[in-house]
Amino acid sequence: MAERTVESTEVAAQLPQVRVAVLGAGKMGGILLQAFLKQNLFAPEQIHATVGHAERALALSTQWGVDVTTNNLEAARQSDLILLGVKPMQVPGLIEEIRPALTTAKTLISFAASVKTRAIEEAAGMEIAVIRAMPNTPSALGAGAAALCRGRFVSAAQMELAERIFETVGRAVVVDEKHMDAVTGLSGSGPAYIYIIIEALAEAGVKVGLPRDIATELAAQTTFGAAKMVLETGYHPAMLKDAVTTPAGSTIDGIMALEEGGLRVTLIKAVMRATERAKQLATG
Ligand SMILES: NC(=O)c1ccc[n+]([C@@H]2O[C@H](COP(=O)([O-])OP(=O)(O)OC[C@H]3O[C@@H](n4cnc5c(N)ncnc54)[C@H](OP(=O)(O)O)[C@@H]3O)[C@@H](O)[C@H]2O)c1
Repeated sequence: MAERTVESTEVAAQLPQVRVAVLGAGKMGGILLQAFLKQNLFAPEQIHATVGHAERALALSTQWGVDVTTNNLEAARQSDLILLGVKPMQVPGLIEEIRPALTTAKTLISFAASVKTRAIEEAAGMEIAVIRAMPNTPSALGAGAAALCRGRFVSAAQMELAERIFETVGRAVVVDEKHMDAVTGLSGSGPAYIYIIIEALAEAGVKVGLPRDIATELAAQTTFGAAKMVLETGYHPAMLKDAVTTPAGSTIDGIMALEEGGLRVTLIKAVMRATERAKQLATG
């Protein structure tokens, strides 16, 4: 599915010439904005952000040390790269609002679930570059997983810039737009599934007598370690699982219980349901 996968780099390349707006700097937008600052990708004076409420804008402005207002049009005017972080149903209205500031020299990156690049291009009413992204919340720690797809008017340089931005906050893959709802169901929502798994493993540790803090640390580090093994060895997860599963040992008993409980099917259903829901978000 992915045309390309790139690992996060430790030293971010700065982009001093790019002025960026984050319109709708809520949970996800705020995470990206703070991660950009932390990774030194953009200096505070290169960033203009907006939110819906003036008092929140003031508080965030102080907290982040960047210009945060409720004026989308002005923020868009002052930027070359415009990130759209409002709720999916708000995207058309936001484009309408910033349309006077848009030119074909600007790049729009929407990370709103469900909203198609073509819908944004049409709302903008010009042949403007629109890139759709689906990041996730671990971007806050440089461990995000993002998928990007391109609209009809995106140049190679614009796509490369978008990839660079998301690579500084984690891994980035490029996919066809038809896969974006599936990405939303898998890695966009995925951190929530994994937190539940970690919480459940920690409860299990408590059940077999471990102190809760130790159980939580072991569960989280085990999840992290297993993910690192998959990503860094490139081995199939089944092969890595087999290496833990000694004949007549304890792991196979654990796996039996896990299969009886239907963990695989449950996870498949979770991603399927979230993908279905992701398809509807743009229309409510
Ligand atoms: N959360 C995730 O894990 C995640 C992951 C991937 C993608 N996304 C996408 O990110 C988008 C935002 O989700 P979220 O979870 O970050 O929600 P959120 O925290 O509610 O963020 C939405 C932000 O938009 C602001 N806003 C509302 N109306 C606005 C307007 N007219 N102009 C400018 N800003 C306005 C809100 O400001 P106020 O706070 O002042 O109301 C808020 O800061 C969604 O489209 C979602 O699909 C989210």
